[in-house]
Amino acid sequence: MELIFRILNKCIHSLDNKSENKLIKYFYAKLVMILTGGVRNNYYLKEENIGFISKARGAGRDCLNIYRIVITSEKKLFEKIYLNNSSSLKKCLKFYDDYYKLYNTFGIKIPQLLGVIKSKYATALYFEYVNEEMSSVNYFHTGYKFVMNNNIRKYDEPKFTDDYLNELYLLKPYKQLPKLKQKYGLNNLAQYANKVLKSSRLCYNHGDFNKRNVIGEYVIDWDNFDLYPEGHDLSFFLVISYKMDVISASEVFGYVDEYTAENQNAAAKECIYVLLLLNCESYIRNKEDELLMKLIGIVEKYVGGSTHKT
Ligand SMILES: Nc1ncnc2c1ncn2[C@@H]1O[C@H](COP(=O)(O)OP(=O)(O)OP(=O)(O)O)[C@@H](O)[C@H]1O
Ligand SMILES: [Mg+2]
Repeated sequence: MELIFRILNKCIHSLDNKSENKLIKYFYAKLVMILTGGVRNNYYLKEENIGFISKARGAGRDCLNIYRIVITSEKKLFEKIYLNNSSSLKKCLKFYDDYYKLYNTFGIKIPQLLGVIKSKYATALYFEYVNEEMSSVNYFHTGYKFVMNNNIRKYDEPKFTDDYLNELYLLKPYKQLPKLKQKYGLNNLAQYANKVLKSSRLCYNHGDFNKRNVIGEYVIDWDNFDLYPEGHDLSFFLVISYKMDVISASEVFGYVDEYTAENQNAAAKECIYVLLLLNCESYIRNKEDELLMKLIGIVEKYVGGSTHKT
């Protein structure tokens, strides 16, 4: 089934710009009907009530990478089709079942999950549709509010193990870890960074907090919601905002101080510096970059004097 999904996604990508074609709409509707077992009468009304979201094309392997707006008598819905047993589906449902309400109390807006249609091979989720034009609020504004509050932890979870780290190697910043030693010739640095991550508290994080997953005040796409080293979203967000020239290098450090002061957690600070370094290595091309240089300096000092000393 996974293979079929992948082939379908390839076909869907080749349909770019043609998605308003009536025939394609018709075939796609049939496809969704087959995948979701035809349990769709509640949502699929007349054809004119269904449209593709132009420009929205995912890259994931767990979802059909084309999305529709479905208009019911009361609401506009965003439809996303997941392969059953996919990790994206599990993570997203876990978020909505157990954490959605809590995150809402932070003042972060999150689209409601309004329908779940589970079938033999696939599950269709229907989210509240968020209208991009409605909001003038930008990524930084929403992101700041989000990352500063995002420190929900679970004390009973196992520590960050090698297995865990291997899984996270799939994510771009963690891939940089083995490269640190090679690049800076600092034997201890890579080992140190590894140790810091492993001894970090694990916190729930969004996991893919990029610009495309923020629409005005809304944070969407909870498919990567999971436990990560503390500051996973924060460090990504700060490096990307710095890269976009929204904040300066010294402001990056200011926000880290603000976060760690509020959470009264000195160990988190060390972990966040490591994560910032890994994100810089991933997303900043300039080797002489100010933030990158400062981080190297800080982390080198930590290697000398840290409790995580190797
Ligand atoms: N609730 C929603 N209301 C309106 N538009 C949405 C909604 N959810 C998602 N979208 C649009 O569809 C796009 C893809 O959705 P989503 O991020 O959930 O999927 P994805 O597979 O992770 O795709 P991507 O790789 O683009 O992030 C989003 O970038 C956004 O433009
Ligand atoms: Mg997304």
